[in-house]
Amino acid sequence: MGASAASGLQMLAVRPGIPACKQMFGSTSAVSAFGRALCTRTVFASRARTTTPGPLISSTHSRFAVRAMSQSGAQGLPIDLRGKRAFIAGVADDNGYGWAIAKALAAAGAEILVGTWVPALNIFETSLRRGKFDESRKLPDGSLMEIAKVYPLDAVYDTIEDVPEDVKTNKRYAGASNWTVKEVAETVKNDFGSIDILVHSLANGPEVTKPLLETSRKGYLAAISASSYSFVSLLQHFLPIMNPGGASISLTYIASERIIPGYGGGMSSAKAALESDTRVLAYEAGRKGKIRVNTISAGPLGSRAAKAIGFIEKMIDYSYVNAPLQKELSADEVGNTAAFLVSPLASAITGSTIYVDNGLNTMGLALDSPTLST
Ligand SMILES: NC(=O)c1ccc[n+]([C@@H]2O[C@H](COP(=O)([O-])OP(=O)(O)OC[C@H]3O[C@@H](n4cnc5c(N)ncnc54)[C@H](O)[C@@H]3O)[C@@H](O)[C@H]2O)c1
Repeated sequence: MGASAASGLQMLAVRPGIPACKQMFGSTSAVSAFGRALCTRTVFASRARTTTPGPLISSTHSRFAVRAMSQSGAQGLPIDLRGKRAFIAGVADDNGYGWAIAKALAAAGAEILVGTWVPALNIFETSLRRGKFDESRKLPDGSLMEIAKVYPLDAVYDTIEDVPEDVKTNKRYAGASNWTVKEVAETVKNDFGSIDILVHSLANGPEVTKPLLETSRKGYLAAISASSYSFVSLLQHFLPIMNPGGASISLTYIASERIIPGYGGGMSSAKAALESDTRVLAYEAGRKGKIRVNTISAGPLGSRAAKAIGFIEKMIDYSYVNAPLQKELSADEVGNTAAFLVSPLASAITGSTIYVDNGLNTMGLALDSPTLST
């Protein structure tokens, strides 16, 4: 399916009876402490009203959208992903950027498939089934995000031949099958035929807490394998089933270009590779399949992966104090940017690193440096 469809629908996102701030942040906000404080600020209430999701694919939701438009008389540019199908690799709970992106794409009307790391699959599916995520599955129109299918995935293995015996027999992988990148792409093809949107929201660096000077070759290569080559591999295997006009997105971090002590183990190198690959893949996938490739350089978020690094709360505080926009960064803001980037509205943007970090990347001075107060 092509990426050219764009109707004239635009909805107001805020639902009556739900505080705007709760809708804006959901459970995916970056810092609960700042979030709670900021929820009282009117700036968020007014910003929340400008979110522009579209309807889900069912006819009920289409009717809701039409009604919403005619009642509000809203004019403007829509983010309309109805009729598009997205595969989002790297969703295993409702705290990370992958989840927020899934929600934004679903709110804009896309059908959602997710790829979940095999060791995290059981708990994710059980939580989903038991309704643990129901509150955070809520979309701006009040419906719950539907995930059409959850695929087991381990993005460090391209084919089954690459999987070592100890992983094959590991009990965390027992019961799951067809989880290498090639097999997942084949299964998605068998199930759905094609996709329009590919999202890479995963990273892993086993030695992330070690300075680069102390990182082993094994740890460094593992970080690159899980966090950069995994994107090359996903695009390589999914490109043949991506409809022309489609788009892909990955998530990067400013440590690729500025020194962030503590983000070690080769993870800064992995993000630098990911950004460089974004440009090269934009050229290759653009010429080969008319597919756009961009990466979002996101500000700090207290996700499960980020907590493993050990100093994420400090990074969030640092950003709040020093960024041009002195506000909490919500995962939904990254989700909304992703929705824009994969939509026809961004049809001329490819090969770019887009910063969604309250502007922190532009600063050359830490305002809270003790040096400045003397
Ligand atoms: N949290 C931040 O502050 C921040 C900032 C900038 C960029 N990012 C990037 O955002 C992306 C998503 O991370 P997040 O912080 O939202 O955390 P997250 O924990 O929600 O996402 C990371 C995901 O990667 C999955 N994963 C790890 N190894 C995998 C493998 N081999 N195969 C498949 N899946 C695997 C994990 O199961 C998890 O679901 C990452 O690329 C991360 O580097 C995060």
